[in-house]
Amino acid sequence: MQIGEELVIAILDSIDEAIHVVNKEGITIFYNQVAAEHDGLRREEVLGKHLLEVFPSLNEDSSTLLKVIRTRQPIYHLPQTYKNKWGMLIDTVNTTLPITINGTFIGAVEIGKDYSKIKDLSTKLMDLQSKVRSVSKKPHEIYGAKYTFHDILTKNERFKAVKQQAKKVASSSSTVLVYGETGTGKELLVQAIHNASQRRKAPFIAQNCGALPESLLESILFGTVKGSYTGAVDRAGLFEIAHGGTLFLDEINSMPLELQSRLLRVLEDGMVRRIGSAKALQVDVRVIVALNKYPSDCVKDGELRPDLYYRLNVFSLAIPPLRDRIDDIPYLVEHLVAVYNRSFQKNVSTVDDEVLHLFSSYHWPGNVRELKHIIEHAMIMAEGDSLTKDLLPQHLNENKATSTNRLRPLRQVVQETENALIMTALKQSGGNINQAAKLLEIPRQTLQYKLQKIK
Ligand SMILES: Nc1ncnc2c1ncn2[C@@H]1O[C@H](COP(=O)(O)OP(=O)(O)OP(=O)(O)O)[C@@H](O)[C@H]1O
Ligand SMILES: [Mg+2]
Repeated sequence: MQIGEELVIAILDSIDEAIHVVNKEGITIFYNQVAAEHDGLRREEVLGKHLLEVFPSLNEDSSTLLKVIRTRQPIYHLPQTYKNKWGMLIDTVNTTLPITINGTFIGAVEIGKDYSKIKDLSTKLMDLQSKVRSVSKKPHEIYGAKYTFHDILTKNERFKAVKQQAKKVASSSSTVLVYGETGTGKELLVQAIHNASQRRKAPFIAQNCGALPESLLESILFGTVKGSYTGAVDRAGLFEIAHGGTLFLDEINSMPLELQSRLLRVLEDGMVRRIGSAKALQVDVRVIVALNKYPSDCVKDGELRPDLYYRLNVFSLAIPPLRDRIDDIPYLVEHLVAVYNRSFQKNVSTVDDEVLHLFSSYHWPGNVRELKHIIEHAMIMAEGDSLTKDLLPQHLNENKATSTNRLRPLRQVVQETENALIMTALKQSGGNINQAAKLLEIPRQTLQYKLQKIK
């Protein structure tokens, strides 16, 4: 089907995102209704005119569209806060891209998502939280961590050692970095650390750094003072709210690099300053961060500042993926079956060997969370007293043929194992390279060379 120009325009007009296209001279050639609403303008006022004529507050440098025309480099997810013609404050996150047709550069397009409503809701939520907090005497009752080390089930020696280390570090106030694939139990471990610490009666606050645009994340973490930008009110940030307790920053590698350096400064001197305020406050907060990607890979890919990484890596805990601790599978299955027997009023007492066999050869990309879902699914379907292969989701049965033969490149497996051993040795030696080299029984120079390759 040939899509006509009119249809394309109708589609672009019905999209809930602002779309603004300029040609390479900076003249607007397409401007949809949502863009007009953001800017508080009529489309006729913008179409066919040069950008700087319509938006006099912008210039060649501050206009992202003009910048892309000049550099021909895309700009992704840039948060912007501006007042439109009616004085309304708009928060958008914009992506601006060069347009090339058949190799000829013709202009640039900007796509803007409106975050004002989300921001509004988040600020209302934060206001409510601080109201609730001022009413209650016991903050941990609102911002609670519910899991303890007893909830972390494992029979695996490697994971048991990690749990042991976590118990030890819990009693200190040291910053901790937790690394593990999705569904391995990072949240569980972090909450357990808080609950085993002397901070257990103080707030536990978790914030996912990937869930919010930069400007919002910054004000949520550090707080704002009235007048710092239009509409800003005096509000404590999470660092202040977590005072005396634990702040869990999840997916820290999604935090913009600039904010990471602010975080590093807070970790170093314990002082936070609300946005727009000259006054710095001393806070006593233990910070725990989590990553679901190998930490050194985050550094290599430019998602984690090396200086922050070294600061965080003082104490790190790596949760092994489920495929590397298949001895945990029968144990977890037994536990989960018991849980779902109770909640679904079932009477399953045995699990077929075939099922366990299938489980031990599956690669578990979603780890324990995935296992939990699969057992839940099977328990809902179960009618008799045993859990059989036919109760498992289709993809698991299909997986068997490929997964038992699913070989991974030897070089990759060896490399991963080597990296993990090096990290363990470094941890045991407290970062001392000489000692780590001795533990690994390799020359110091070799270890240093390998480390350079990892970092
Ligand atoms: N060792 C374990 N024992 C019992 N339950 C576990 C264990 N590990 C994980 N779970 C359960 O698996 C689910 C996922 O755990 P959790 O939310 O802590 O994972 P996560 O690593 O934070 O994942 P994500 O990266 O996706 O946020 C939860 O329901 C948790 O209770
Ligand atoms: Mg999590």
